[in-house]
Amino acid sequence: MKKSPRTRSQQPNRTVSIIGTGSYVPERVLTNADLEKIVETSDDWITTRTGIKARRIAAKDEFTSHMAARAAQRAMEQANVAPEEIDLIIVGTITPDNFTPATACHVQRIIGAKKAACFDISAACSGFLYAVEIAQQFIANHTYNTVLVIGADKLSSIMDWQDRNTCVLFGDGAGAAILRYRAGSHGVITTYMGSDGNYGDILHVPGGGCALPTTAENASEKLNTLKMNGRETFKQAVLSMGVAATRALEQAGLTADDLTCIIPHQANIRIIEALADRMKIPLEKFHVNLDRYGNTSAAAVAIALDEANREGRFQVGDYILLVVFGGGLTYASSVIQW
Ligand code: UT7
Repeated sequence: MKKSPRTRSQQPNRTVSIIGTGSYVPERVLTNADLEKIVETSDDWITTRTGIKARRIAAKDEFTSHMAARAAQRAMEQANVAPEEIDLIIVGTITPDNFTPATACHVQRIIGAKKAACFDISAACSGFLYAVEIAQQFIANHTYNTVLVIGADKLSSIMDWQDRNTCVLFGDGAGAAILRYRAGSHGVITTYMGSDGNYGDILHVPGGGCALPTTAENASEKLNTLKMNGRETFKQAVLSMGVAATRALEQAGLTADDLTCIIPHQANIRIIEALADRMKIPLEKFHVNLDRYGNTSAAAVAIALDEANREGRFQVGDYILLVVFGGGLTYASSVIQW
């Protein structure tokens, strides 16, 4: 009698760990004082309303893929993983180098990850955690062993530099993580993801896609730049990150007291303060770097994770929580035992 093959679903799920992190921000620093010369704003307004003091801006010839590859190389170095070992590359971005090929394919070429399958995902600032969850599913289900996950954005390329409502908030950068099966129980315990397309227009780029293709007329009306309803975005950010964090903790069977460190999306210090208040967690447990980098979209939580990791803010066995929010609207939260 022929043996029946063992299907994936009959194999036990595997624990998936982050075995290395890396990040990259461009050299050029744009301070609030610099912005005072570009739009009608002030250091005082930006600092008190957002907590941002500076952001990094990529050079003209420095693309999302270049920043992503630099972050990836740092993560690979920390994880001691060679390019040929990577099975899959996922890049979360809303500022790809081109519509096609995917930015992940550009990264593959730059780092020499010859055997990897590559694709991008579009979930705005939530892209990194969405990609972590996709990677976790592929590894847990035995499809792949080693996945490179990247959040990278060059938001300066879709800014309206005359719109003070948006241009003071954002910066460029990339963050990366290597995920791999590791024996034992530590790893990505759970991720909760959510979306609400009804709020799509509170944070969006109307032009450049097939709805409003890039034409001279659309470009002159700046339809290919980011538009935002700031107050509504603020409200939805606090609500949805609160929901995502609470659900993720429930799924993990943990409470906020169990957490050593929280890595939130870096949009506005007042959003983080409101979240800390809702979750009744002291602000000191939140890793914050938005004062130096502003909001780097999909890169923000990944850069913050890498910084916190390298600073030793948590040790092996500690529980940490990542929580994000972005255009779509999209939101997600992961609980990880380091
Ligand atoms: O990844 C998610 C991305 N987006 C976000 O997370 C943004 C979430 N929203 C926010 O962070 C805040 O809503 C903002 C920082 C964008 C704005 O803060 P706010 O306290 O909600 O201010 P506001 O929208 O109520 O605006 C107050 C005033 C307005 O003037 P008027 O209409 O009251 O005369 C704005 O025109 O501040 C004005 N304003 C500025 N003034 C100086 C808006 N931007 C600026 C600026 N400098 N850069």
